Amino acid sequence: MIYRDDLKNIKPYQPGKPIEEVKRELRLKKVYKLASNESPFSPKYLKKALLAELENINRYPESSCFYLRKVLAKELKVKPETLVFGNGSDEIIALSLRALISEGDEVIVSYPSFLIYEIQAKIHGAKIKKVPLRNLKYSLDDIAKKINKRTKIIFIANPDNPTGSYLNSSQVRNFLKKIPKSIVVFLDEAYFEFAPKDFPKSLKLLKERGNIIITRTFSKAYSLAGLRIGYAITTKEIATILNTIREPFNINRIAQSCALTALKNKKFMRAVVAFTNNEKNYFYNQLSGLGLSFKESATNFVLVDFKKNTANLFKFLLKKGVIIRTLAGWGLPNYFRVTVGLAKENKSFIEYLKQYLKK
Ligand SMILES: Cc1ncc(COP(=O)(O)O)c(C=O)c1O
Repeated sequence: MIYRDDLKNIKPYQPGKPIEEVKRELRLKKVYKLASNESPFSPKYLKKALLAELENINRYPESSCFYLRKVLAKELKVKPETLVFGNGSDEIIALSLRALISEGDEVIVSYPSFLIYEIQAKIHGAKIKKVPLRNLKYSLDDIAKKINKRTKIIFIANPDNPTGSYLNSSQVRNFLKKIPKSIVVFLDEAYFEFAPKDFPKSLKLLKERGNIIITRTFSKAYSLAGLRIGYAITTKEIATILNTIREPFNINRIAQSCALTALKNKKFMRAVVAFTNNEKNYFYNQLSGLGLSFKESATNFVLVDFKKNTANLFKFLLKKGVIIRTLAGWGLPNYFRVTVGLAKENKSFIEYLKQYLKK
C-alpha cells in the first residue's frame, strides 16, 4: 500500500444529495433541497460586491483577509490577530487538529453529532473517545468523565447538528470550570445566529479561560454556503499557529468581498433568521398534527423521530423532487432531518409526507 495504513478505514463524509444530481438522475425539472441546512435564499443584494471582484480575479486574494478581519474584529470587539478565516468553518476543524495533535493525543467527540470532527480526527491520527448523547443532547457530565492526561481537544457543536439541541450559558460555564485549562475546548457555533437568548456568551468565556476555539460561519444565516467561508475566534497563540499552517490563499476574493458586504449589511441575514423561525413553527404544527415526534430546534433544521426506518420515505420524497436527510450514517436509522426551505418548499414537503403516511 502506498498510503498510510490508518487512512484505509475512514468513510468519506456523505453530503446531502445535490439538486443538480437529483435533477439529472431522476429527470426532474423541479427539485427542493431540504438536506444540508443551507439558507433557501440567494443573497442577490451581493451582486454588486460579487461582480466588482471580476475586475481582480486574475490576482491572488489578500492572504490576511485584511478588510474582513478589521470589520469582524470591530464587530466582535476582539483583536484582529485572534481571528482565523477558513474555507468554511470545516477547514478550521482540520487546521486545529493539524496544529494541536501529536502522537497518542486524544480528542472527545459526542455521538451522534457533526461527523467532520471524527473524520478529521482520524485523518490527523488522534485517538477518539466517543460520548453518546443522552436524550439527544450533549452530556457534559459524561464528557468530563472521559478526560485523561492525553485529552487535547473536546469538540462541542452548539447548537448541535443533527439534533438541533443546544447547551445554555450556565451549562457551558459550569462545564468549563470542571475541566483542566490545558484542554482546548472547540465550540462550533455554525448555527449561532439562530440560537436563543440563554445561549452562552462564548467570547466572554474565551476571554476568561483561554484555550477555546469558537467557530462561526457565513454558510447558514448569511446564505453564503457556496462561497465557503467561516472563521474562528480564539487566543492569539492559537490563531497565530492556525494562520501559520493554513493555505496562504484559502479564502478567495469573491468570498472575502461578499462576506465583508454581508457583515456591513445585516438586514438580509436577520430576515433569513426571522423567516426561518416562523417556518419552524409551521413544521412544528404540521408534524404535531401528523403525530410525529420532534424536539424544538435552535437551528434552521428539525430532527424528526419517524419511529421506523426512513429509507423508503427518503426514496418516496426524492421521486417527488424533495431531498431530506436520512441519518442511518449517524446511527439514527429511524430519524430524518429536514432543513427549513422556502414556504412553498416546506408546504410541498409536508404534503408529500402526508401522502406517504396515508399509503
Ligand atoms: C455543526 C456544524 N459545524 C460546521 C459546519 C460546516 O459549515 P461550513 O459551511 O462553515 O464549513 C456545519 C455544516 O453543516 C455544521 O452543521
